Amino acid sequence: MARLRTGVLISGRGSNLQALIDACTARDYPAEIVLVIANRADAAGLDRAARAKIPTRVVAHRGFTERAAFDAALDAALREARVELVCLAGFMRVLGANFIDAWRDRMINIHPSLLPEFPGLDTHARALAAGAKRHGCTVHFVRNEVDNGPIIVQGSVPVLPDDDADKLAARVLAVEHRAYPLALRLVADGRVRVRGDSVEIDGRPGPVRLDAVA
Ligand code: GRF
Repeated sequence: MARLRTGVLISGRGSNLQALIDACTARDYPAEIVLVIANRADAAGLDRAARAKIPTRVVAHRGFTERAAFDAALDAALREARVELVCLAGFMRVLGANFIDAWRDRMINIHPSLLPEFPGLDTHARALAAGAKRHGCTVHFVRNEVDNGPIIVQGSVPVLPDDDADKLAARVLAVEHRAYPLALRLVADGRVRVRGDSVEIDGRPGPVRLDAVA
C-alpha cells in the first residue's frame, strides 16, 4: 500500500503532530510523515519528530526579509521530500497566496474553534465570553482567507460551568488529537472531494462530526 507522503508544519509544542505520528504507527494508516518543518529552531515538536526518526528542517522566518522568499524555501523543502499533502499543526505564520494556491486542496489546517465561529487567536477565551454552549476544533483545507476553507472534520466538546480558558483549551485539545488523525485518514484514503466551499466524504455532504460528551 502506497501511503500518502505528508509534511507537517509546526511552530511550537507539536501535540497535534504527535497525534499524527501516533496514528501513522498503525499498519493500515494510509499516510506517512516524511518531513516536519518548523519556522523556529526551538519548536518542541522537532524533538517529537526526531524521536520518531522523521526528518526535520528548520526554515526560520527570521532568516528572510520577504515573505515570498520564506514561502519559496518551505515549498522547496516540501518538494524535495516529495510531499503530497501538507498538514499545518500549530503553524503560526501566515502563508502567501502563491504558496496557498500551489498547495490548493493539498494543504489542511487544524483550528481550535468550530469555524466559522472564532477565527483568529484566543478562541477559547472568546468562546467563553460569548457564552458558547459547545466549542471545539475544525480541520479544513487551507484557502487564502485565514481560518477559512472547506471543512473536513469538526470535533466539539461541551463548555462547562466552571471552565476557564485553560480548562476549555485542554478539553478541545483532546478532541483535536482525534479530529486531525481522522481528517488525514479520510483525505489519504481518497474519500474527500472538494465541492466549492465544502467537501463530500464518501459522496455525502461533509464534514464528519466528532461530538464528545465530556
Ligand atoms: C492547537 O490548538 C491548534 O488547533 C492550533 O495551535 C495549537 C497547536 O498546538 N492551530 P500543538 O502545537 O499541536 O500542541
